[in-house]
Amino acid sequence: MFGVPTLIRNGKILTSNDEFVADLLIEGEKIVAIGQSLNQDADRIIDAEGMYVIPGGVDQHVHFSFNYKGSKVRGFETSNAAAVGGTTTLIEFVNQEPGKGLVSSIEDYRKKEVDGIAMVDYCFHSIMTDPRDEVIEEIPKLAEAGYPTMKLFMAYKGMFFHADDDTVLKALIKGKEAGITIMVHAENAEMIDVLSKKLISEGKTAPYYHAVSRPPVVEAEATQRAIYLSKLAGAPLYVVHVSCKEAMEIIRDSYDKGLPVFGETCSHYLVLDESDLARPDFEGAKYVCSPALRTEEHRAALWEAIEKKWLNAVSSDHCGFDWIDQKHMGIDSFMNIPNGAPSLQNRMNILWTYGVCAGKISKQRFVDLFATMPAKINGLEHKGSIGVGYDADIVLFNPSYRGVISVKNNLEGVDYCPFEGFEQKGRAESVFLRGNMIVEKGKYIGEMGQGRFVPGKAYGAAYDGWR
Ligand code: URP
Ligand code: ZN
Ligand code: ZN
Repeated sequence: MFGVPTLIRNGKILTSNDEFVADLLIEGEKIVAIGQSLNQDADRIIDAEGMYVIPGGVDQHVHFSFNYKGSKVRGFETSNAAAVGGTTTLIEFVNQEPGKGLVSSIEDYRKKEVDGIAMVDYCFHSIMTDPRDEVIEEIPKLAEAGYPTMKLFMAYKGMFFHADDDTVLKALIKGKEAGITIMVHAENAEMIDVLSKKLISEGKTAPYYHAVSRPPVVEAEATQRAIYLSKLAGAPLYVVHVSCKEAMEIIRDSYDKGLPVFGETCSHYLVLDESDLARPDFEGAKYVCSPALRTEEHRAALWEAIEKKWLNAVSSDHCGFDWIDQKHMGIDSFMNIPNGAPSLQNRMNILWTYGVCAGKISKQRFVDLFATMPAKINGLEHKGSIGVGYDADIVLFNPSYRGVISVKNNLEGVDYCPFEGFEQKGRAESVFLRGNMIVEKGKYIGEMGQGRFVPGKAYGAAYDGWR
């Protein structure tokens, strides 16, 4: 039930810059006090000794409506997978529908497929697919509606959501008028098209060739080009799902030169690599996502980048396609394999086990990448931090838990898990969404529809010091 006054005692509170033992009091949907030996008469008292108390995660990159060549991912009816993975807010990418505006596309989708279904809180990024003049003019209206971010696909030549340079430039210029953060999927569509057709003509059709068709230079080129476009526009830029060293270094160096250029990476780029794409018996298709998985050299560079703040978030890029019915569309050609992998539930597990426990990132960086920074980038003022006045989205994280990641324990509604068999250290023991316990002893106990729309505020963190 929402609104039970709750005292969480003796937990070790982790924030993006601190760690201390304290009590935390929840009233209504908010954190109302943090302190030593809080002596309140709460209706519910939870002893969190031995647990870390961390903010509920904010996953700023998920797909619940993505459609690849007619095949659609699982929707918000599987969003409880986020909750058991410690994530309490999702931001989904919503295509502008043919003949509709940007805001109405999101709102129609919301009414039909999200409101009353979502099990965690949510907001949306717009994807402009039809850049007519009147649509460009509509971009500032996204801010008023609480959707202050837009993604443009520089990749995917020939698909209706592909965006040319003129679209990216116009969006950057118009978006800046209202504090909209423009996000790009940075891959050179022409390079991919030429390489893909050549590979197919040579009979190289297996999933592994997905990576060969889009090597790091494809991503680096588009990243650099997008940065030049943003420089010309005088607008900030956010590069999503950075997968390679070259692109990361371009972002890092541009920022160092004073440009407001930021980027995220995703959990799969940190622990998987192109050898997964080479798995036999079409298993490699499970790992087809764009940009493609890389090599150990790139993985190491990305871990360094997230620890050193050269990239500022780790998202899931969750895309729930089944292997048997959907990935097999591409049995004869990697070009027809739906792009994307399910990873909503394991973002925290990957970051903690292979980041914090492996000594690659600090606990504070973990909190920042998992919750705090994504909230700030997207203008979610009351999410992503433990502090008085914030929404009581809280994870009691048990660092002693030991397990193995498997599709068997997965709520994503997909027939495979890309992290199958991975060791898992720690888990979200209890999760609170605005004060309501929705995960207990690692199991989802919430209700469908308890998630709520959270409007994002314009001028997110990419505009800091820039406006
Ligand atoms: O392969 C991916 N990443 N699929 C989801 C769509 C996208 O490009 O983000
Ligand atoms: Zn993308
Ligand atoms: Zn994506």
